[in-house]
Amino acid sequence: MLGIELPIIQGAMQYFSLTPVAAAVSNAGGLGIVPTMAFQSAEELRSEINKMKVATNKPFAFNISLVPEVVIPEVIHEYIQILIEEEVPVVETSGKRPGEFIQPLKEAGIPIIHKVTSVRHALAAQEDGADIIAMVGAEGGGHPGMDLVSGHVLWAEAVDALDVPVLAAGGIVDGRDIYSAMSLGVDGVLLSTRFLATSEMNKSKEFEEVLLSVPTNGTVLTMKSIRNAMRVANNDYAKKIIEMEKSGATLEELLPVISGRKSYEAVMAGKFQEAQLSMGQGIGRIHKFETIPELFQQFKADYQATEQKMSVLSWEE
Ligand SMILES: Cc1cc2nc3c(=O)[nH]c(=O)nc-3n(C[C@H](O)[C@H](O)[C@H](O)COP(=O)(O)O)c2cc1C
Repeated sequence: MLGIELPIIQGAMQYFSLTPVAAAVSNAGGLGIVPTMAFQSAEELRSEINKMKVATNKPFAFNISLVPEVVIPEVIHEYIQILIEEEVPVVETSGKRPGEFIQPLKEAGIPIIHKVTSVRHALAAQEDGADIIAMVGAEGGGHPGMDLVSGHVLWAEAVDALDVPVLAAGGIVDGRDIYSAMSLGVDGVLLSTRFLATSEMNKSKEFEEVLLSVPTNGTVLTMKSIRNAMRVANNDYAKKIIEMEKSGATLEELLPVISGRKSYEAVMAGKFQEAQLSMGQGIGRIHKFETIPELFQQFKADYQATEQKMSVLSWEE
């Protein structure tokens, strides 16, 4: 359906998964996703789409966040028109029921992946016409939802409940995880945190050290009070936000503190304790930055080794 060789999708990462990362994933046979939310204007968005077209001749996707508090509907409609005009091969939506937003994309024949955190939202998106559903478990980076059901429970539930293909997301970092998710019947996987720790992300040595120092229990959920939980490293900044939430801060008070742009600028300035660093629990199982082609080789080797190991199991008496 997507025209890709391997069902391995790199999830959108606001400001982080731009052309160098997304094109490398597509070139390795997967599907790279660039977030439209990273761009302040239509011109910037068009320019990034053109960069992708130059960097890869394989299918790629752009993500549109439908969260009305984050992106105003006029901008969403404008960006969707640009994705259609530029003939972007695949579009991913997230954040809200896709409803009428995806109709023009469907009319243009663009396959839609919609990302959710519960089966009830998945069923609604399927009804709206989403072609593929990505199911994010509680372990995941970004916004893992409010139900916080673990990936394995959610993926199996989704495979049984949905008619459209399902992608498993949340906490997947290696070939064993890919095998394990696929064994539940999903059609592919979507990973983000694993791609944060790649050379193509092109961050400083300090970023690398900060990222690799977070253990599996080193993340927390901020923004639960505004029902938009986000999984981030448990650093000083996360603690400050959670304190504000405990003392009853309003959305208006929180907005300047939780701004994605502000955190990104802090990261770029090397001020890691002044940023919300989004990442999933799988971060604690990543011990090395690798290039994306190396990572795909490793996925293959781990997947095949697991397959081999599993074939040894015999249930015969
Ligand atoms: C740094 C970072 C930024 C993210 N930004 C977005 C985003 O802009 N839009 C979106 O739909 N999901 C975003 N996500 C969520 C991921 O695309 C994906 O659903 C989730 O991280 C998968 O779990 P994993 O990180 O454990 O692989 C982000 C995740 C991370 C780690």
